[in-house]
Amino acid sequence: METKNLKELLDDMSIEEKVGQLIQLSGDFFEANNISIGPKQKLGITQKTVDLTGSILNVTGAEITTKIQKEQMAKQPHHIPVLFMSDVIYGYKTIYPIPLGLGATWNPNLIEKAFQNTAHEAAASGNHVTFAPMVDVVHDARWGRVLESPGEDPFLNAQFAKAMVNGFQKDLAKGSGQVSCIKHFAAYGAAESGREYNSADLSISNLSQNYLPPYKAAVDAGAKMVMTSLNTLNGIPATADKQLLLDLLRKSWEFSGIIISDYASIFELIKHGFATDQEDATQKAFDASVDIDMKSPCYANNLAKLVADGRLSLAKLDEAVWRILTLKNDLGLFENPFNRVSVAQEKKALLTESKRKLARQVAAEALVLLKNKDNILPLKAKEQKIALVGPYSDSKYLLGMWAVHGNVEDTITIKQGIESYVTKGNLKVATGTDITRDYKMLKSMGYFSDEQIDQMISSEDTENKQHEKAISIAKEADTVIMALGEHTLESGEAGSKTSLRLPKNQQRLLDEISQLGKKVILVLISGRPLVLKDVEAKTDAIIQAWFPGTEGGNAIADVIFGKVNPSGRLSMSFPYTEGQEPIHYNHLVTGRPQGASQHVGRFVSRYIDAPTEPLYPFGFGLSYGKIEYSDFVLSQKEITKNETLKVAVTLKNNSSWDRWETVQLYFHDEVASVVQPVKRLIDFKKVFVKAQQNLTVEFEVRDDELKFFDNQGKLILEAGAFDLFVGPNSRDVLKASFSLIDKK
Ligand code: BGC
Repeated sequence: METKNLKELLDDMSIEEKVGQLIQLSGDFFEANNISIGPKQKLGITQKTVDLTGSILNVTGAEITTKIQKEQMAKQPHHIPVLFMSDVIYGYKTIYPIPLGLGATWNPNLIEKAFQNTAHEAAASGNHVTFAPMVDVVHDARWGRVLESPGEDPFLNAQFAKAMVNGFQKDLAKGSGQVSCIKHFAAYGAAESGREYNSADLSISNLSQNYLPPYKAAVDAGAKMVMTSLNTLNGIPATADKQLLLDLLRKSWEFSGIIISDYASIFELIKHGFATDQEDATQKAFDASVDIDMKSPCYANNLAKLVADGRLSLAKLDEAVWRILTLKNDLGLFENPFNRVSVAQEKKALLTESKRKLARQVAAEALVLLKNKDNILPLKAKEQKIALVGPYSDSKYLLGMWAVHGNVEDTITIKQGIESYVTKGNLKVATGTDITRDYKMLKSMGYFSDEQIDQMISSEDTENKQHEKAISIAKEADTVIMALGEHTLESGEAGSKTSLRLPKNQQRLLDEISQLGKKVILVLISGRPLVLKDVEAKTDAIIQAWFPGTEGGNAIADVIFGKVNPSGRLSMSFPYTEGQEPIHYNHLVTGRPQGASQHVGRFVSRYIDAPTEPLYPFGFGLSYGKIEYSDFVLSQKEITKNETLKVAVTLKNNSSWDRWETVQLYFHDEVASVVQPVKRLIDFKKVFVKAQQNLTVEFEVRDDELKFFDNQGKLILEAGAFDLFVGPNSRDVLKASFSLIDKK
């Protein structure tokens, strides 16, 4: 539609219709099978509101979206099409690994392709907008939503943010992309104590430097929507924070797209103690420029009245509605409300062979080899008698909590993956124990009825039989592959936990099997970094497999048998113990750093009962065949502002393996007017190094990469001494120093 006609449409709409465009309801209002995740509110709204609703949450499928679209358009006086928005977080039907695993690929280009494929599937199912990517920087593994984030580093997350947005939106013009709604703005990942929906309190320099860059990168990449977060940030609920949404997002970052609240977060302004009632909440959120009210009665019941009373201007209301109409128009919905969606098209787009192939590649790249004693991996398929033991050995539940549109039936299990490599008869499988036998925890997940839990926990008799079978096949085997891990609902939204260990029954099984004198390879399924100190010593190899998605079983087998050389690197630190949380590599220096203080013994910054360092640091991961780093050279010892420093390092692959290496470059600003982190990732390159090959990897460091944020949120550059570090992870690095000077 021409802009002129769109304007005429806006002018012709009643206030009620306009308000309708700013409301989002879930599928249950339209008799669709709806996925409602998040706090449920009994909405006090009228049928009129339902009929005039501008967008619908989490309803997907060509047939149902077409039906609802027709019905809704018929009901609306101006026949305005609705937008279907959904949580398509890491795959629609072809599910990729959870984003924490995607982060571990350190390969944003690959993830861009994956999300382009995802958008093709979802668009064919009638979806217009995805509530992704979630790019919250995360430091605390107790928070279940670390599953959804690429990781703990602002620079790495920013690279993924850009790639993910590009992937989703790439084919929008062709009608096969999805609008990307980034979330959760802002700093939701800093929820105190890792407790879901909890407050975040951050200094301005910390917020600006460590939390905001990924959102900014996503906005710069052209994300058309932003979702506010459910938390308060420095005492103000993000959903009504004018400084955050108006001053920063709209004015400073020039974001002209749509801002949507998170689920019921406008209503929750009252619960926060920030608004007196729904009217007040409406006024405050709208004044902060929130366009769409997701699943709360506030806008529906109060916006029109506030405009009539003159407390909100009609012009502002029109601006918000305009943003929504413009998006609908940009998507071509006025001309073609069904967006070229049909059941036949949908069938063709979902779970195709090529999509599965990419999912297998991504899942394999996301796997992180944490331990490989005496190079036990890869296994030689033919000669081995293998026992595959554990509740995940033949489980299809490899998708993770936020794959809400995925179907477990489409999953390749670990058993199926391994079967394609081993000689028949050489593989024996036993679950050994349940995922968990903790009734209280299953109950507290808030999902299962007592009857369902009874079915999930086997009887003593069955449990004993499972156990006996596991021990007996392990005894007969050369190698035991143990597939252990968290229950799907232990992570994800509202999956906060204080214990980050394997369920007790699974740990007991591992303890026992590790006594049998067999080689033990652990494949670990989890939505977060777990505490592995009681696991590490009992295994010969550990593959951190996350929730690896639809092709998970194949990808795991590809790595176990060496078809793929693992290249994943952690994008989030694995703690030694829960008491270290929140833990991240880019922490500030203290006045009494351990090992470098003038104090000795007790009075340094450390724990008296645990190491200060994580068990596995940020950036860590092994591959088959070792690479040595040497000859770390800088082009100059001194650079002036505006000059570029050239950096080179040599990699030597003395092994017989061709392999990928993720070369990581960090820096430290030795003295600054705001104290700087011990290390900050400044760049990385994933390079291919052939067996017996030397490779020189080069980087350029520009002065703007050395800037930091002060406590007014200003980006500044100060002359002085800097250290650069290069290595395979944030711990094992080579160091070189240089100075930034004002003039030569
Ligand atoms: C979550 C969002 C999600 C929304 C819609 C909320 O509970 O916090 O991440 O997009 O629900 O399902």
